[in-house]
Amino acid sequence: MADPFPTCWLNGAYLPLADARVSPLDRGFLFADGVYEVVPVHRGRPFRLRQHLERLERSLAELRMRTPLAREGWVEVTNRLVAAAGEPELLVYMQVTRGTEFGRNHLFPADGVAPTGFAYVSPYPAPAPAVLQRGLAASMLEDTRWARCDIKSVALLANVLLRQDAQDRGSSEAILVRDGRVTEGSSSTVFVVRAGRLATPPDSHSILPGTTRDAVLELARDWLPCDVRDVSSDELARADEVWIASAGRGVLPVTSLDGRAIGAGVPGPGWQDMYARLQRHLDEIAGRPAMEDA
Ligand code: PDD
Repeated sequence: MADPFPTCWLNGAYLPLADARVSPLDRGFLFADGVYEVVPVHRGRPFRLRQHLERLERSLAELRMRTPLAREGWVEVTNRLVAAAGEPELLVYMQVTRGTEFGRNHLFPADGVAPTGFAYVSPYPAPAPAVLQRGLAASMLEDTRWARCDIKSVALLANVLLRQDAQDRGSSEAILVRDGRVTEGSSSTVFVVRAGRLATPPDSHSILPGTTRDAVLELARDWLPCDVRDVSSDELARADEVWIASAGRGVLPVTSLDGRAIGAGVPGPGWQDMYARLQRHLDEIAGRPAMEDA
């Protein structure tokens, strides 16, 4: 993985990432009491920044957590870090925790305790040409996460274990199943294509409302009929195509599941078309203001 860029933002100050310090008594460290966002920057423009900041606000509200910055403040931090990085393809990471108290206490801290805010930028991990040509391997695993996966919490232990389990099986993503239904990937949303129709599971407490998924659904409109509905584990295994989508990976084809080929075992025509449409869309919106919808 490429090194992050040197400048970060921590609690109101821009400073070298290597010098940034947070107390070990921060509730993010003690309790994973925090939320985060990952915003992709393509062609120099943060993609879906408004949607990411809305989701951050929603995660904070669901956890009754204060924000260190209003929305315009996050926009400014994003723009400054992107400008400092000086590259067109990036990932901006933002995190908020419930702050630091002197001691450890499960209950929310006193009103005076300020939330911790942090942001930094890394190079965008563009998919290798071999991934675009051959697709990814995935493993189907039981979803062992908590009951509020719609909140983008930094408490990612189950996601970490599932992703590592997939990796140990030679796969690049774990596609998660609960009660026989696909929820999402360990860090992505999931689409299946069958008989010329796209399907993806609906928003619920079991999945993160994906920003890339919404972009894919919008790009599919007027072209590929799409059903937002439950997808069974059987359907996943028998699909013509499977895609995963996330800020960090864009939309990528899954061409094998648990060692068996999906469809023809190569990236399908639906994905080829969607990938090209997404690239064209990113080119088209490159010059627009960051908070403008697109
Ligand atoms: N993860 N579901 C989970 C569990 C995720 O962690 C992510 C993204 C997604 C896709 O959401 P979006 O399209 O808005 O990125 C779905 C980020 C990239 C991460 O943890 O690095």
